[in-house]
Amino acid sequence: MDSHQLLPLLVLLTIVSCVQMQEYRLPTNVRPSHYRLHLNLTEPTFTNASNAFHGMVIITLSSTELTNTVSLHAHHEFISINLVTLSNTDINETQYSINNDTDILTINLPGQLAAGVSYNLIIDFTGQLSTTEMTGFYKSNYVDALGDTVYLATTQFQPTSARRAFPCFDEPFFKATFDVYLTYPLGLNALSNSPGWVYTSDNVSETTQFNTTAVMSTYLLAFVISNFTCTEGQSIDQVPYRICSREETSDTRQWALDIGPSLLESLNSLTQFNYNVSKEKLDQVAIPDFAAGAMENWGLVTYREMYLLWDPEQSSNSFKQLIANIISHEFAHFWFGNLVTCNWWSETFLNEGFANYYQYHTTHEALPSWELDKQYVVAVLQPILINDGLINAFPLQNNASTPTEVLAMFGQISYSKGGSIFRMVEHFMTTAQFQAGLRNYLALYQYQTVLPEDLWSTLNAVINNQTTQLPATDLGVVMENWVKIPGYPILTVSLSGGHVMISQERFLLAGSDNTSKWYVPISYTTSEDANKFQSTVPNIWLTPDSDLHFDLPINNASWLILNNQQIGYYRVSYSDSLWNSIRDALQTENFDGIIDLNRAQIVDDLFNLARANKIAYSRVFDIISFVSNDTSYYTWVPTINGFNFLLNRIGLNSTLGEAIALDEATGDNKDAHLRDYVRFYQLKLSPFTAVHIQSLMENFYDSVSLIVHDEDDQIYTLSQVLALTTACRLGHQRCIAAVEVLFFIYRNSGLRPNKNLRSIVYCNGLRHSNDQGDWEFLWGEYLNTSLASEQSTILSALGCSRDQELLERLLTLSVTENSGIRSQDALSVFSSVLTGNPGGVDVAFKFLRENHQLIVERYLSMNALPNLINNVANAFTTEEQIEELEEFIENGGLPEEYLPAANSALAAARANQAWLEQFENDLHYFYFAPASGAFSVKASLGLAVLLAVMCRLFVN
Ligand SMILES: *[C@@H]1O[C@H](CO)[C@@H](O)[C@H](O)[C@H]1NC(C)=O
Ligand SMILES: *[C@@H]1O[C@H](CO)[C@@H](O)[C@H](O)[C@H]1NC(C)=O
Ligand SMILES: *[C@@H]1O[C@H](CO)[C@@H](O)[C@H](O)[C@H]1NC(C)=O
Ligand SMILES: *[C@@H]1O[C@H](CO)[C@@H](O)[C@H](O)[C@H]1NC(C)=O
Repeated sequence: MDSHQLLPLLVLLTIVSCVQMQEYRLPTNVRPSHYRLHLNLTEPTFTNASNAFHGMVIITLSSTELTNTVSLHAHHEFISINLVTLSNTDINETQYSINNDTDILTINLPGQLAAGVSYNLIIDFTGQLSTTEMTGFYKSNYVDALGDTVYLATTQFQPTSARRAFPCFDEPFFKATFDVYLTYPLGLNALSNSPGWVYTSDNVSETTQFNTTAVMSTYLLAFVISNFTCTEGQSIDQVPYRICSREETSDTRQWALDIGPSLLESLNSLTQFNYNVSKEKLDQVAIPDFAAGAMENWGLVTYREMYLLWDPEQSSNSFKQLIANIISHEFAHFWFGNLVTCNWWSETFLNEGFANYYQYHTTHEALPSWELDKQYVVAVLQPILINDGLINAFPLQNNASTPTEVLAMFGQISYSKGGSIFRMVEHFMTTAQFQAGLRNYLALYQYQTVLPEDLWSTLNAVINNQTTQLPATDLGVVMENWVKIPGYPILTVSLSGGHVMISQERFLLAGSDNTSKWYVPISYTTSEDANKFQSTVPNIWLTPDSDLHFDLPINNASWLILNNQQIGYYRVSYSDSLWNSIRDALQTENFDGIIDLNRAQIVDDLFNLARANKIAYSRVFDIISFVSNDTSYYTWVPTINGFNFLLNRIGLNSTLGEAIALDEATGDNKDAHLRDYVRFYQLKLSPFTAVHIQSLMENFYDSVSLIVHDEDDQIYTLSQVLALTTACRLGHQRCIAAVEVLFFIYRNSGLRPNKNLRSIVYCNGLRHSNDQGDWEFLWGEYLNTSLASEQSTILSALGCSRDQELLERLLTLSVTENSGIRSQDALSVFSSVLTGNPGGVDVAFKFLRENHQLIVERYLSMNALPNLINNVANAFTTEEQIEELEEFIENGGLPEEYLPAANSALAAARANQAWLEQFENDLHYFYFAPASGAFSVKASLGLAVLLAVMCRLFVN
């Protein structure tokens, strides 16, 4: 599954921990081997009239021991059982029941099951399609070209929702084959994992029978019953390949049709296990309502429309890249997840980590000029190092038992940390041995489930001791702490006269942990190396039990940088004198040979060291001043991220009401005075920081152009969007003036901006508009387009308006049925208001306080509210906001179950304030002290810009 907006669920876990302990896992003595499933959906189900369907399942099962009970899953809200029969004997309804907490259906048999004998368990049931949640077997709808609302029935089973469609052993461990029969009204069509053919029909309905599936877990089963049409692409080794969607979108299928075959072929050759061995066809379907990004159902992959359908004229390069990337992710799952499956969701990373890693690797093979191997560092590795630097981060392998805990395993740790760790292992083992090991792993465990130990031991077996020296007896020992404990190390390095000293401790953004240690592969480059940063095999290992001392082969190196290409999953900090040498090297021609990925590493590590209060921001600004001569996309992603974090804390995004702080400062209340002192600096700091970034950015900004479009150059286009988005947001005059013109032309002549600049033009057009008609115009454009990528671009821009009334209206639309905003998109509307502008935070918070009940009902899933409270509190920059949150928690009528989450959000907001106070003096000194460094000079040169920025930020 590609997770889209399934946000981290840390908060929610505190809620469920008070529920009494129950056994949520099935016993393993009784196991299914085959399901024959028949679902019958009639005409009223494809209208508003009914959600019911009739089902019958015959499960062939056997027991490993003598037993008189069978336990399996059936969700109590969606399944009601009519009749249970075992081996032709009806079972009295007093003999079975569903536990409403665990959704385990326990059947007490009149007699005993003998060990090793096959039995048929038959369950006749009535099911309900879900209309509110996009999981299980659910209803989606859209308005067709004639203006009619059309309904379809589709599935999303991963991780624990197959039990909502039919009674089954709904854990990955219980693999079986499936024969599916679907009955539906004439005129529709049905898709499932295997090829199907019409088995019977009458004058109102037909039944499609699907070929028996490969042995697989229940979460991979899927059905789509709709009036969709499909376009057939090039077959891949006799496997027919199709893209299916609502007919109106048929002209946007081409990109997915073109790119799919080369991605699958690349994986066929990587794994040496051809897709056609396990599956006879491959359909990819775009679903109008879809909660995740995409789902790897074997043979029937499902997507959000914007992640599959691409319009060459209208959809941006970043959507093109996302689509290729997500297709690769789902395809990689055919081997890593479908063929070989994690034993239980505690080990979700064995599925998602590989999919995350190979989604970049595979797409890179097909489209090398996109540099996805390099993009991985700034798009995946660096962001997860931030998440994993929190004191409450999950370990990669983590106990999960309830459905809520299971869902939490689909957070970024399983994906991005999993992928980053596999990337590290590949490089320290070498690619050749890693791939050979993976082929053995797939061959050995095909159609089974695995634990991390199975992976490490298979990889370990191919390691050639002559070429690869591990620092421990075997790979399992090396990997244990990377998998079982949270976080990762920061290495501290010093160099004197050719002698190197390296120590490690856990890197935490806040808090401490003196006990966690890892086996760390270390590669490095010195100023004297000819072949700089190219080798990614470790020169040496750091072990958990001791610091490392060694001598460089030459002793006149002026600098030393660890972690070539940022392959290792760790951060690095240097001694003062080594930082000075690195700074000086970065100031020289061609950065003294320090490559872009390592410049990106240095910037990202420095900003996060500062965030963790391990180095002063003024020192960071000093070392990274080279970025003003650097136009590399890779350097600029972490630079902008680092500054954005600081600006968000200082309050670029806070309420414009800050100006009031100046008036209050004349009051003589002592505490208030102190507070105002703090606020006074916040007010001053943000424009200085904004101008600081702009002055550093000038060369980067000038390296891309608003006018030169080169959509064939992916990295140019990504840089262009990054530079312009940032510059316009920070008030860069030339940027704003130019996009205002483009918005004006669009509104008055209908000429749309270049597809790659739309997000910038739409957002800034509204941000700097005083005419509600501009917003109405764009909202009208949203309602008029049926292209999902364009809808998403517009929705994110509508929150950029500074008009409180319009923002409130937008948020209300997000919880209004049939407003044109689907509930799958509600979260992104909320976050566009929250982040679009200074002032948005207060509007979003007010909406949340007044509509928390509606949010629970309309926003995606049950975890939306805690996550939103958390995100809002994280954007707070003033004491008033914090006090309002306190007041809301006390008197806001928030249901009790959400109080722990709200209190933890409150604590986080307080911690953020305290965080900023630590740095105030340092930042104040940097920006205001006379001659406090290189920047003061630039600041005075940029005075005109500064004044302009202050107008933008504080006059409204
Ligand atoms: C499907 O259900 C309808 C309504 O109950 C029934 O008339 C029809 O015979 C069923 N079809 C099949 C194939 O079971
Ligand atoms: C369990 O759920 C079903 C269906 O929602 C309901 O009818 C039943 O009363 C519930 N049982 C208990 C013990 O709560
Ligand atoms: C089921 O069992 C109950 C209690 O033993 C009994 O009263 C009832 O008649 C049985 N029902 C059937 C259909 O056999
Ligand atoms: C159905 O499956 C069988 C056995 O796996 C295979 O030989 C046959 O070709 C499949 N039929 C279709 C239509 O794919």
